[in-house]
Amino acid sequence: METFAESLDTPSVVIDMDLVRANIRRFQAYADASGFKVRPHIKTHKLPLVTDMQLAAGAIGITCQKVSEAEAMVAGSPAVTDVLITYNIVGAKKLARLVALARKVRLSVVADSADVVDGLSAAFAGEASPLATLVECDTGANRCGVGAPEDAAALARKIAAAPGLVFGGLMTYPPAGGEAAVQAFMSEAKALIEADGLTVPVITSGGTPTMMRAAEAPVVTEYRPGTYVYNDRSLVMRGACGWDDCALTVLATVVSVPADDRAIIDAGSKTLTSDLFGLTGYGHVLGRDDLAIDQLSEEHGRMVSTGPTGLKVGDRLRIVPNHACVVTNMVDEVYLYSAEEPTPRAAQVVARGRIW
Ligand SMILES: Cc1ncc(COP(=O)(O)O)c(C=O)c1O
Repeated sequence: METFAESLDTPSVVIDMDLVRANIRRFQAYADASGFKVRPHIKTHKLPLVTDMQLAAGAIGITCQKVSEAEAMVAGSPAVTDVLITYNIVGAKKLARLVALARKVRLSVVADSADVVDGLSAAFAGEASPLATLVECDTGANRCGVGAPEDAAALARKIAAAPGLVFGGLMTYPPAGGEAAVQAFMSEAKALIEADGLTVPVITSGGTPTMMRAAEAPVVTEYRPGTYVYNDRSLVMRGACGWDDCALTVLATVVSVPADDRAIIDAGSKTLTSDLFGLTGYGHVLGRDDLAIDQLSEEHGRMVSTGPTGLKVGDRLRIVPNHACVVTNMVDEVYLYSAEEPTPRAAQVVARGRIW
């Protein structure tokens, strides 16, 4: 009988669905026990069937980064009825698509400037239902977001007064370990906004690395983990999980052994991606701590060891990539398996390449 590894061509992205289920359940149980809601970010899996598992486990809706990602997920699953887009939507084309999407599902978005609010307001002013718009706050990541609670309150007032919009709350994407900063910023912003006579219906935070400390910021009402569903080498290296929790691996074949201490696999930057995520090397070869993937070209991955690798052409290896989310964006299909269904079945990654 064909083994699991033989049944697929390589390189292939394979997903252990038992681990996916366990990863979803673990965080949902923690959220339920701590009293906050879960709104997973779909950028990691981009698969309606995994979203369905997250919603069935208790998630209240999904997070998407782009309008086109949200469109793909809504089209892919009737269970997706509540979507938060955590991105400033700018430009007439995207705004038109946002309006169309808002007619289909319960939609909310974020904004961190008057310019973004003005664009949203112009697009939604004639709509039957106002668009829930949250203020994005920078609690230490230095990406998007207003930088001070007073600025959050000022933008909340602007949203509340804008035709076509309703103030939806506060959103942040903090750096790992940012719970105290989130608590301080959001508590102050909430108090200022309430003093203006507005309510703050949602305070949403996110991030897998310190998600099991989310309860240390009790002001947060919902949490948006993304990578937790698969995990990856970056999370193992930060101590957030173990190799046994990594549901996504890249199956690769050794295609060349030019020297005793060097071998080449058929997974290069077009599969593993060149995302180092602050690490050294491009992935972890399961069961082979001695090997380092130290160099990639598009279709070649170079593995080196301090001694003979013992590898031969045709050997198959499984690699935990540095960053799972970018790997799923590289392939049309991933292959799912579980103890119950050991033969891998293909699933189309419907929200891959959705950058608009
Ligand atoms: C706005 C936002 N929320 C949530 C997440 C999920 O983060 P993680 O994958 O660390 O769980 C991300 C990740 O990029 C994000 O940008």
